[in-house]
Amino acid sequence: MITVTTLGELRARRAVWGAGGERVAFVPTMGNLHEGHLELVRRGRALAAHVVVSIFVNPLQFGPGEDLASYPRTLARDAELLAVTGADLLFAPSAGEMYPRPQAEQTRVEVPGLSEILCGTSRPGHFVGVATVVCKLFNMVQPEVALFGEKDFQQLAVIRRMVEDLCLPVGIVGVPTVREPDGLAMSSRNGYLTPTERACAPALYRALQAAAEALQRPVDLEDVERAAAAQIDAAGLRTDYLSIRRAADLARPADADRDLVILAAAWLGRARLIDNLRVQRCL
Ligand code: PAJ
Repeated sequence: MITVTTLGELRARRAVWGAGGERVAFVPTMGNLHEGHLELVRRGRALAAHVVVSIFVNPLQFGPGEDLASYPRTLARDAELLAVTGADLLFAPSAGEMYPRPQAEQTRVEVPGLSEILCGTSRPGHFVGVATVVCKLFNMVQPEVALFGEKDFQQLAVIRRMVEDLCLPVGIVGVPTVREPDGLAMSSRNGYLTPTERACAPALYRALQAAAEALQRPVDLEDVERAAAAQIDAAGLRTDYLSIRRAADLARPADADRDLVILAAAWLGRARLIDNLRVQRCL
């Protein structure tokens, strides 16, 4: 595996592959890699001749008071994991390479509506930061296909909408959430948890499962949301939101909608955990 840090080096390598007509799959990350990230790389290998992974802790998607400074940076270990997993190129640019101008002067990509609900309510500006960096990375890497985790279900919806609205020539592939044996969704932020908090953390997924189970009977959605949020709080987490939405567009479900997703975010110590579960509702 080759590691490059500049756009020039990346473009040179991409041009060689392009001249040979070889497809490129792309996995954007912020590093501190775990099995969830590596699963995206494996899926990418099955779809293209080459897999490019980026590691960039994107300042534009962190709000004031969030964990930008303390976000775990483990580049040497990440590079080893990627090499073993079969990535071909690691792009690890500096902040100056990605954003040569002051942040306030950076052109931004906004996906309205989808960006302002759920996580967007508690993290204003977050999805503008995500859409902007992913759009830039797509233009830099020029992949045929890019892979994203369903763990960040709203992020995946924002990216799909951006690609559609801006006619970007990239196929977007969603990959199911990789979990720890006790059900906790793998996340770089799980490392913030103390042993006691870590023991409470699977309650988030258990509450989603209980809500999904409840939706197998005719029920009032708000009752289910309230009960699941109470279950999360009772386990020692602090629910930020728990919401049942239409999977296709994250709108509030109409009576006839069956394909739903239950999304939740909750605080546990320093960590803000998110998770979601798709469910076919019984009508
Ligand atoms: P990061 O949190 O590092 O995640 C990178 C990719 O890995 C995302 O597509 C995310 O959904 C996926 N992922 C994380 N945990 C996963 C899990 N347990 N199972 C499956 N996939 C998982 O998401 C970001 O970085 C950033 O917002 C980024 C898209 C790179 C833009 O900066």
